[in-house]
Amino acid sequence: MRCDQTAAWKALQAHARSFAGFDLREAFATDPARAQVLGQAAPHLWADLSKNQTDATTEALLLALAGQTGLAAHRDAMFRGERINGTEDRAVMHWLLRQPAGSLAGALAEPLAQVHETLEAMLHYTEQVRGDAAITDVVNIGIGGSDLGPQMAVIALQDFVAPGKRFHFVSNVDGHELAAVLRGLKAENTLFLIASKTFTTQETMTNARSALAWFQAQGGRDVARHFAALTTNVSAAAAFGITTTFGFWDWVGGRYSLWSAIGLPIAIAIGTEHFRQLLAGAHAMDQHFQTAPLAANLPVRLGLLDVWYRNFLGYTSRSIAPYHSALRRLPAYLQQLEMESNGKRVDRNGQALPYGTSPVLWGEPGTNGQHAYFQMLHQGTDTVPLEFIAVKTPTHSLAEHHELLLANAIAQAQALMLGQHDEGGHRHFTGNRPSTFLLLGELTPASLGALIALQEHRVFVSGSVWGINSFDQWGVELGKVLARDIHARILSGDAGGVDASTAGLLARVR
Ligand code: F6P
Repeated sequence: MRCDQTAAWKALQAHARSFAGFDLREAFATDPARAQVLGQAAPHLWADLSKNQTDATTEALLLALAGQTGLAAHRDAMFRGERINGTEDRAVMHWLLRQPAGSLAGALAEPLAQVHETLEAMLHYTEQVRGDAAITDVVNIGIGGSDLGPQMAVIALQDFVAPGKRFHFVSNVDGHELAAVLRGLKAENTLFLIASKTFTTQETMTNARSALAWFQAQGGRDVARHFAALTTNVSAAAAFGITTTFGFWDWVGGRYSLWSAIGLPIAIAIGTEHFRQLLAGAHAMDQHFQTAPLAANLPVRLGLLDVWYRNFLGYTSRSIAPYHSALRRLPAYLQQLEMESNGKRVDRNGQALPYGTSPVLWGEPGTNGQHAYFQMLHQGTDTVPLEFIAVKTPTHSLAEHHELLLANAIAQAQALMLGQHDEGGHRHFTGNRPSTFLLLGELTPASLGALIALQEHRVFVSGSVWGINSFDQWGVELGKVLARDIHARILSGDAGGVDASTAGLLARVR
């Protein structure tokens, strides 16, 4: 049943109306068990949900909403390999990429065997490249899911990256990006990874062509050694002239693909064992999502909280604050994950929705954000739920720095909640501002895997409740089509039949 037609939705609406007087400070004062009840362990991390604007009734009603919208059945359909991506008639099985070999029977046994066959080939190649001292620079050319996940993970796991190789990520069609990277490279020392699920994406194909031209102009001959393609479209890669290819399947969405061949730059960076640990951490979270009771299931709790904030308290964005500089690309990665998955205005049957879906995601690492936009989070007119992500144990020995970092993260969460009374106005902090605190023991391949899988599944949960298809992305197509037309017009100067603003811009850029 569509979420807004359930009894739980109506009850949540009524509950939200009576919720205007809710105060976090009071909630803690009246319920000594709040922090404990709203603390949630999950594989490799722990979540403090207690500084969110919820009470026991909210929790109960959200769980009822999950029940009435069939969340568990939808989740189970995904894990059975059903074609839940209806508009593209595809299964959704990124989770299969981290499933241990031989662990599934029936219809999924064969796809799982193929996953492991490809994984072994990719990891064999990984070790070959890692052992090749002549390759000092690895350039990943890809965009969206073929860039953000691998780039985020390589940066996040920088402490696990063996010395001797540099990693570059070129995504934008803006030639400034490719030119700046190529400037520092030598053809004989460079490996280009052309990462594209479809092998048709304009930006990636343009960058790949220019990289190949540069390679050949530098005297490079051995394309098989210096170029590899990561794609589901092996024939297009072959037509391009790349014979070293690692494939994957249409049931892996681009933004869910870092576990597949698209993860090759991660594997080369951190090595076979660490890449396996990344997969294992994600698999542990998959199992948690599949088996933990909904009331103690962290992706479910987070996804339902997202629905509560978006649809009942009217909060339209969520800010991400990783208190770890190596997680600096996490907000960008999460933007695609959430907004490309859940930025939909129709349900799975194409019917327009009368309620809001994806929030806007944004953020920067702490403590930097504190000196930039946190002002608005503390004293602005909008309430923005903030998600802290902190790591208990650092990999450096600058103990004082890490103590200060964690102190700041905890203090910000506290300040948002407590506020400060001041008659004068400008120094007044209303407090009662919500946050979630995710704590990892250490930032390792395994804990990163679990953190990312957690985020994938929470996006599934809210998308499922909203009744949308979180696994298509038709909204990116129109711009692609129009860009081809505009490109032709830039070349020809023909502005016939276009609106006056577009014609004016065309005239100015020519
Ligand atoms: O345009 C959006 C998109 O299709 C994303 O969904 C995807 O991650 C990105 O482009 C790159 O696509 P591809 O891997 O096919 O080049």
